Amino acid sequence: MMLTYHTGSVEETQSVAKALGEIVQPGDLLCLSGDLGAGKTTFTQGLARGLGVEEPVSSPTFTIIKEYDEGRIPLYHMDIYRLGESAAAEDLGFDEYFFGEGVSVVEWAEWLQDVLPEDRVQVIVHNLTPTDREITFAATGPRSEARLKELEKTCPTSR
Ligand SMILES: Nc1ncnc2c1ncn2[C@@H]1O[C@H](COP(=O)(O)OP(=O)(O)O)[C@@H](O)[C@H]1O
Ligand SMILES: [Mg+2]
Repeated sequence: MMLTYHTGSVEETQSVAKALGEIVQPGDLLCLSGDLGAGKTTFTQGLARGLGVEEPVSSPTFTIIKEYDEGRIPLYHMDIYRLGESAAAEDLGFDEYFFGEGVSVVEWAEWLQDVLPEDRVQVIVHNLTPTDREITFAATGPRSEARLKELEKTCPTSR
């Protein structure tokens, strides 16, 4: 299943993400793809709000992983960009996050392909103009499929 949204501002992107943040369950994995500046971190900020995280969420480019525990379930926000192709070889204890009690959101997950659980929500953010984005969600298994079905209900694609 696939879902596509068009957003014209940061607020619109974050409101879609917030709706998903209200749906995700422990052990869910979201993989965010898109160019630098597409809006992956912006999206994660909206998702965090949907979980009830009030602390500001910034890019974990240097720490690689940042955990937020104040929401409905923990949020593990990862940005693999700096690790590049050595990412899968680094022993950063990724499994503890992927199979943990929270939701994992991974920017630049393409570098982790081989160590990622198979059932995940792929989120691709495309820059159309400086303010317009196309956000495509794809499910790769029953777990992610269930989340997208729910998202379609709570956040219709044409608004
Ligand atoms: N519709 C939109 N959705 C998301 N970000 C937007 C949008 N329009 C403009 N932006 C801007 O695009 C940039 C996205 O940056 P960021 O989220 O850090 O990207 P990434 O994490 O993909 O590198 C921000 O400066 C944000 O203000
Ligand atoms: Mg980012």
